[in-house]
Amino acid sequence: MSVTVLGIESSCDDTAAAVVRDGYMLSNVIASQDVHRQYGGVVPELASRAHQQNIIPVVDAALQNAGIARTEVDAVAFTQGPGLLGSLLVGVSFAKGFALATRAKLVAVNHLQAHILSNFLKEHAKEKETPTFPFLCLLVSGGHTQIIVMRDYLDMEIIGQTIDDAAGEAFDKCAKMMGLPYPGGPAIDRHAQDGNCAAFRFSKPCIAGLNYSFSGLKTSFLYTLRDKCRDDHGFAERRLADLCASLQHTIIEILMDKLEKAVRQTGIKEIALAGGVAANSGLRNAISAAAQQYGWKAFLPEFRFTTDNAAMIALTGYFKYGKQLFSTQNITPAARLSQS
Ligand code: KG4
Ligand code: ZN
Repeated sequence: MSVTVLGIESSCDDTAAAVVRDGYMLSNVIASQDVHRQYGGVVPELASRAHQQNIIPVVDAALQNAGIARTEVDAVAFTQGPGLLGSLLVGVSFAKGFALATRAKLVAVNHLQAHILSNFLKEHAKEKETPTFPFLCLLVSGGHTQIIVMRDYLDMEIIGQTIDDAAGEAFDKCAKMMGLPYPGGPAIDRHAQDGNCAAFRFSKPCIAGLNYSFSGLKTSFLYTLRDKCRDDHGFAERRLADLCASLQHTIIEILMDKLEKAVRQTGIKEIALAGGVAANSGLRNAISAAAQQYGWKAFLPEFRFTTDNAAMIALTGYFKYGKQLFSTQNITPAARLSQS
C-alpha cells in the first residue's frame, strides 16, 4: 500500500512544505523570509508572523507540484522542535488542523533527526547511493554541532557535541563583526575563495573527548579584528578575503579533528554530513579529501537539502509512519527538543 506524507517545516525563518510518497520526494517548496536581513539576524516575532502568511500558499504549492489532492495525504509530519517557539507553533497548529480536516495521521518530527535523514532524500530509486548503517553523521547547523552514530533511521546516539556555540553560529557571529549580511556562513564561504587561509591564526579549543567548542574562536577573532582595526580603520574591508579564509579554515580544522577522532574510536568509516553548514565548500572539500586519505565513504547532501527544508521532515515522517509512531492532537511544540 502506498504511503503519502505531507511535511511541514517552520522551526526558524523558512516556511516549507513537501510531499514524500513511499520514501521518494514528489515536491519541495520553501518560502524564505527576507524580512530578517535588515536586522542582521532572525527576529522571532517577525518570523512567526511571516510563517502565518506563508504556510497556506506554501502547502498548496507543495500539493500542487506533487500533483496530489489533500485527501490523498496519509500523514502530516511537522517539526515539533527544536526551534523558535512562535515559529514552531504555526507549523504544529497548521498540521493539527490539516489532520483534523483530512483524517490524516499526525507525526511529530525532530528537526535535527530530519537534517541527518536528508541524506536519504531522493526522487527516484536509482538516483544515488545512500549511507548504510551504522554510519557517522557530522551535523553542523546554526544551532547545533554534533557527531552522531546512526544505527538505523530512527536509532541514533550523539557521541560528541558543542559545549557552547554551534559552528554555524561562529560563522554568523564573526560575519557580523566584519559587517557581512545575515546569514554570514554563505558570505564567508564566498569571500574565502579569494583569500589566504594561512594569513591569520585564531585559537583552537582544547576540549576532551569528541565535544566541540567555538566560543573561544569567536573571541579570538574579535580580538584580532579589534587590535588590527585600532590603527587601521580600513583593515577589515581590505583583508576581508584573508580573514574569511583563515576563519573558515580554523572552523573546518576544529570540525575535522574530532570527526577523525570519532572514526578512530568507533571504527565506522561511512561518514555523512548534514545541516546548513554542510553547504560550506571548504568543509565539503575537507571531508572528500579525508575520505581519499583514510578510505572513508563520504556522503555529502545536495545543496538544496543542507539548509532547512520540509522534504527532510516528510521523509522522517515516512519512516516514523512505518513504525506507527503517531502523535495525538495534544502534541505541543518543544523549543529545546533533544534527539531520542
Ligand atoms: O540548518 P540550518 O538551515 O538552520 C538551523 O537549523 O540552524 O543552518 C543555518 C546555518 C547558518 O548558521 C548559516 O550561516 C550556515 O548554516 N550556512 C553556512 C553556509 N550556508 C549556510 N555556513 C558556512 N558556509 C556555507 N556555505
Ligand atoms: Zn536546520
